[in-house]
Amino acid sequence: MLRDEAKKRIEKLREIIDYHRYLYHVLDRQEISDEALDSLKKELFTLENRYPELITPDSPTQRVGGTPLKEFKKIRRAWPMLSLNDVFSKDDLIDWVKRIEKLLPESKKEFFCEYKIDGLAFEAVYEKGIFVSGSTRGDGIVGEDVTENLKTVSSLPLRIKSNEDRVIIRGEVFITKNDFEKINYKRKKEGLVPFANPRNVAAGSIRQLDPKIAASRNLNSFAYDLVTELGTKTHSQKHDLLKSIGFKVNPYDKVCQSVDEIFSFYEDCKKRRQKLPYEIDGIVVTINDNKVFKELGSVGKAPRGAIAFKFELKQAVTIVEEIETQVGRTGILTPVAKLKPVDLGGVTISRATLHNYNEIEEMMLRIGDTVIVGRAGDVIPDIIEVLPEMRTGKERKILLPSRCPSCGKSVKQERKGSLIIRCVNRDCPDRIKRGLEHFVSRKAFNIVGLGRKVVRKLVESGKVKDPADIFFLNKEDFLNLEGFADKMADNAVKAIQSAKEISIDKLIFSLGIDGVGEETATLLRKNFGTIDKIAKASREELSSIKDIGEITADRIYNWFRDDRNIEFLKKLKEKTKILNTSSNLLKSRRFVFTGSLSIGSREEIKRRIISIGGDVSESLNSNTDYLVVGNNPGSKLKKARSLGIVELSEKELLEMIKE
Ligand code: IVH
Repeated sequence: MLRDEAKKRIEKLREIIDYHRYLYHVLDRQEISDEALDSLKKELFTLENRYPELITPDSPTQRVGGTPLKEFKKIRRAWPMLSLNDVFSKDDLIDWVKRIEKLLPESKKEFFCEYKIDGLAFEAVYEKGIFVSGSTRGDGIVGEDVTENLKTVSSLPLRIKSNEDRVIIRGEVFITKNDFEKINYKRKKEGLVPFANPRNVAAGSIRQLDPKIAASRNLNSFAYDLVTELGTKTHSQKHDLLKSIGFKVNPYDKVCQSVDEIFSFYEDCKKRRQKLPYEIDGIVVTINDNKVFKELGSVGKAPRGAIAFKFELKQAVTIVEEIETQVGRTGILTPVAKLKPVDLGGVTISRATLHNYNEIEEMMLRIGDTVIVGRAGDVIPDIIEVLPEMRTGKERKILLPSRCPSCGKSVKQERKGSLIIRCVNRDCPDRIKRGLEHFVSRKAFNIVGLGRKVVRKLVESGKVKDPADIFFLNKEDFLNLEGFADKMADNAVKAIQSAKEISIDKLIFSLGIDGVGEETATLLRKNFGTIDKIAKASREELSSIKDIGEITADRIYNWFRDDRNIEFLKKLKEKTKILNTSSNLLKSRRFVFTGSLSIGSREEIKRRIISIGGDVSESLNSNTDYLVVGNNPGSKLKKARSLGIVELSEKELLEMIKE
């Protein structure tokens, strides 16, 4: 290809790659396959390699993370990057509004409300539409130059739809809860200490000198401020403009006229919080009118015209009273701290996980220590910090267990990067209980109603030795358990029977093979198709699958060659109906039906939903995603409305599940 032709082709490639990046990372849409996009990128790489003089800073190839830096350069900014003052209650909010009214009684006040993203603040500078530099806040005036790391953030454009000499924007870099789980899962597998929360990953990644690390973290961004106003009159207009020139802007915002309106936005936000794919820690309320905002000025490092209305702090100080040991499904012993009960954001906390025995060593934790505990979202609380200065001298050292607390057999110590203590007794009651809990959990057989207590009773009654045994239970078996009345026993048997149809992905996951989570289960199905083929696969075949490491491959191989597991699987096959999964279109979306259907029998529709990764259950609760409404709907409809669950007509359902 001639140089001129190459140049034109390169330009076309850049344009189309950037268009699809924008669709995917900013608008959450996809028009072409990953493979097709990869091949376009590859072509661009090859051409730029041949004509390196044609590489421009806004080329999509510049996102991969260049050479490591020795240190961050400093960037001095003309407009200081402030932080915000916090309020935690409606009363505090009212006080803030009153203060503003007093300062500027004449002007009309509108409030722009938006979500406060829990990540790391950044600033990005564009010249003539091209991204030229980016920085962290630093001390507000001088920040650290993290241009190379920011280039790896796919939702942040390298070229914007604006030819202005200079555009300065601010926003938040974050990672999704999902990516956070993935990163920690991988770290644990590699024996590395997991990150404490998504914000730490985002902040840590942006502050790495080697941009390759940031590139590997799937960082995301929302823009929320336009420093160079570009003619906008309000904060609301800034958001609109940011969006129209190519930035990813959070969809939840509202212009409010009163404290009550702000408060109801805050309450709505709180309700939505758990379901959002990223962490937020409150809302930001800004005086909408740019002129009024500026007139209000700032005190210290915070503007008067904006406030962070935060969710209750989820940290508290308490004392570690004892260390208990939990036994997991695979026999791994996990230390759990028993705490002096303490209120944490409205919930009384009396236990915290310690993840592993290394953590105890690293934190130098002792029994009797005063600690800071914290809770992010709904997860189990963590010990964040030990306060050794609070020691009295009576604290006791924590000893490593030599026997399993459940079965009393001696345990084994393994050092794999971190210290692992394991109970190797397969008849250990706690191991069986945890295995059954995993088996009935939402991502596996999803048997509602078989909670921890029932599982305990079932295992202790001796009726369940491996999870497949639950399919052999009858009403009598339940009636024999303590505290089971007629109706409850009926419901339990019904719930078990109606869970018998399961997608192959979930069945693989439910087996509880060490290292085989949801994703690996799907990979196995994609590569082998049936359980029998997975069972027959060689070590080499297993480990040749991208994303399945040798350790996991070994575990899978060994699992299918173990007599007990073979027996367990045989029973399982006899009692369940494994549905072929054709896709994961409806990944773990939960459906409930009400009324009679005219598009097919419930059974048929249920099978179809399961085979494309969804779930169908009888009872409706706040975890239900969709209520399918047929003819003559029952009381579920009313309940769904009170819970704010999405209703689907039969037609809409058909649209969702069509081939
Ligand atoms: S500030 C001038 N908006 O919160 C007001 N900050 O505690 C413009 N943050 O440093 C809006 N989401 O790291 C604003 N939507 C949002 C935000 C946000 C997260 C962070 C940011 C800031 C900190 C202040």
